[in-house]
Amino acid sequence: MQKDLGDYRKSYEKSALLEGTISENPMELFQKWFHETEASEGVDEPNAMTVSTIGLDGFPKSRVVLLKKFTYEGFIFYTNYNSEKGKAIAANPNVCVSFFWPNMERQVIIKGKAEKIAKNLSDGYFESRPDGSKLGALVSDQSSVIPSREILETKLKALEREYENKEILRPEHWGGYLVRPQSIEFWQGRPNRLHDRIRYVLVDQLDWKMERLAP
Ligand SMILES: Cc1cc2nc3c(=O)[nH]c(=O)nc-3n(C[C@H](O)[C@H](O)[C@H](O)COP(=O)(O)O)c2cc1C
Repeated sequence: MQKDLGDYRKSYEKSALLEGTISENPMELFQKWFHETEASEGVDEPNAMTVSTIGLDGFPKSRVVLLKKFTYEGFIFYTNYNSEKGKAIAANPNVCVSFFWPNMERQVIIKGKAEKIAKNLSDGYFESRPDGSKLGALVSDQSSVIPSREILETKLKALEREYENKEILRPEHWGGYLVRPQSIEFWQGRPNRLHDRIRYVLVDQLDWKMERLAP
């Protein structure tokens, strides 16, 4: 089998990323880009982001999760702490998070350290989820090998009975991670492959150095 994709070619024309016009704080630029992506309605899940970890097997692994909050501190997502990514983060908190917003011709790449958020914050978010999602978190021993799909469905049915009219509390193994950024790179596609790349590197606390990278 063979398919040649050499003719897939696109000229990026939509926007530019120029030093004089952007915030000195990358989280403010991220907010601006995020809002522009949301408003464009051309991306189904603008908060879908790829999180890469260094696994216990020494390999990097990337998977998509949903960004649930961002602040000046960083980026929060929720998952199972015992999952493959959870175990990877426990051993090595260095992660890479990236967003690709094709209709905006933009990419953002964040390197940082992931840490568990406070339990009460995870409780608050868990509480806001629909019951089906709450039970899903209880049912699934995320990333473990299972013999069949039926196992999950049987377990879900049993839990639905068990929790009928009962409050579903957050299991300890489920919660949020905050990724505290150490560098954030913004990529804006430009014509002739002369793309704009601006990287912010954290120098000290809230002090960021801005630099341009060759495309
Ligand atoms: C659009 C999309 C959103 C997802 N959101 C999440 C999420 O917020 N949290 C999560 O744990 N997994 C989410 N997943 C599933 C993950 O990609 C992944 O399968 C799961 O977290 C297990 O990863 P791991 O075995 O590498 O730990 C999402 C997948 C997709 C495609």
